[in-house]
Amino acid sequence: MANTVIIGAQWGDEGKGKIVDMLSAGSDVVVRFQGGNNAGHTIEVNGKQTILHTIPSGILHPGKLCLIGNGVVLDPFVFLEEVDSLTANGVDTSPRRLGISYKTHLIMPYHIALDKAREAYKAGGKIGTTGRGIGPCYEDKAARVGLRACDLLNPDLVRAKISRALEEKNFLLKDMYKAEPLDPKEVADQILAVAGRITPYLTDVSGAIMESALIGKDVLWEGAQGVHLDLDHGTYPFVTSSNTVSGCAAIGSGVGPKTLTEIVGIAKAYTTRVGAGPFPTELDDDTGAFLRQQGHEFGATTGRPRRCGWLDAVVLRESARLCGLTQFALTKIDVLRNIPVLKICVDYKYKEQRIEYPPQEENALAEVTPIYEELPGFTEDISHCRHFEALPYNVQKYIQRIEALTGVRISYVSVGPDRDQTITV
Ligand code: GDP
Ligand code: IMO
Ligand code: MG
Repeated sequence: MANTVIIGAQWGDEGKGKIVDMLSAGSDVVVRFQGGNNAGHTIEVNGKQTILHTIPSGILHPGKLCLIGNGVVLDPFVFLEEVDSLTANGVDTSPRRLGISYKTHLIMPYHIALDKAREAYKAGGKIGTTGRGIGPCYEDKAARVGLRACDLLNPDLVRAKISRALEEKNFLLKDMYKAEPLDPKEVADQILAVAGRITPYLTDVSGAIMESALIGKDVLWEGAQGVHLDLDHGTYPFVTSSNTVSGCAAIGSGVGPKTLTEIVGIAKAYTTRVGAGPFPTELDDDTGAFLRQQGHEFGATTGRPRRCGWLDAVVLRESARLCGLTQFALTKIDVLRNIPVLKICVDYKYKEQRIEYPPQEENALAEVTPIYEELPGFTEDISHCRHFEALPYNVQKYIQRIEALTGVRISYVSVGPDRDQTITV
């Protein structure tokens, strides 16, 4: 396997965790490079489910080095909960094989408080965030007042930064949002109480990746969220607060862009979205409910029901363009079983014009009308298929149509949640 970046090609929850876990078998290093514990990545091995929020999805493969890059925002408490839970399940989570960049920003309790207070305060314009403090943490990073993992080596610096931050945050919490203020000493005590468990993981992530690459080891970058939640290129303002496109793998882990060779977009065979924002192919009908039911479309992080709709080739085309996708992995096609007629949105109608890419103005995606093509469905159980040729004719046609509409080949077809339920095309 070459150095490979895994990117969600839609609005998140495409099955990145499953594909990263599967591809980890042929890689040596797995790196998270953006996002935080807003992510919920599900892995299933022999029917046993593991949901990861911060630790890379390569962790279930013994011996693989798992790294959390500088582009991630890390909640230290969630990280330790995950370490404890994995350890209890017999997974090695020691610093020998798990590392956190010195430069990774830390999510503090006041980031979470602010995220929740703001969402509660907004009358109509809620983003529907995961409430994990992601936005406020990235804000502090850009404002150059963030607390980084390396700061945990210096308790005085931690106390000073938290005190300074809370002067401003408490004003906002109390006076603006009418929420409870936080005590700087308590917050600092809480974080310093666990600092000694975090600091052994501090790693020069850039150095570790390049060292591996130099000796011919293969690296896998694990994206979180999806291209259309990207801070710049997504459906702004209904986006997350990090860049989710492939180029961010380089920035968020500290390697040159030429290190990234294969870029795999993970695409669900239909579309889902959690939280607010435009979604042209959304189905508010029985088919939408059927997809939610059959696909178990409930958030891996917040448990919220996911909005469901038809596959949108415009969205995938845009992802291919923004990320330089070299391949797709198509997931959850088994979920489409027993829908008599399948629809794919091939283009949009916007201001009386037929367009192939999303319009660029803010919220214009809410104004487009999908142009659909209909394909015949299938009734066969495909969850046991392990070869492309074993798939029913109509499933093969559906896959080939997506390739033709996007210009990107589909290298993997996932036919069930388990690690083994995958076809390499
Ligand atoms: P991620 O955030 O992209 O890693 O995706 P999530 O884990 O949030 O959501 C994907 C869900 O679909 C998980 O429950 C997976 O176990 C499940 N899943 C992944 N691939 C397949 C598949 O091919 N078929 C079915 N039925 N479920 C799948
Ligand atoms: P994975 O990695 C789906 C959505 C939230 C909200 C918006 C902003 O599992 O695919 P945030 O908490 O990031 O400020 O929320 O982004 N969102 C996700 N939706 N999958 C995710 O991650 C998501 N992470 C954030 O629902 O609409
Ligand atoms: Mg998810």
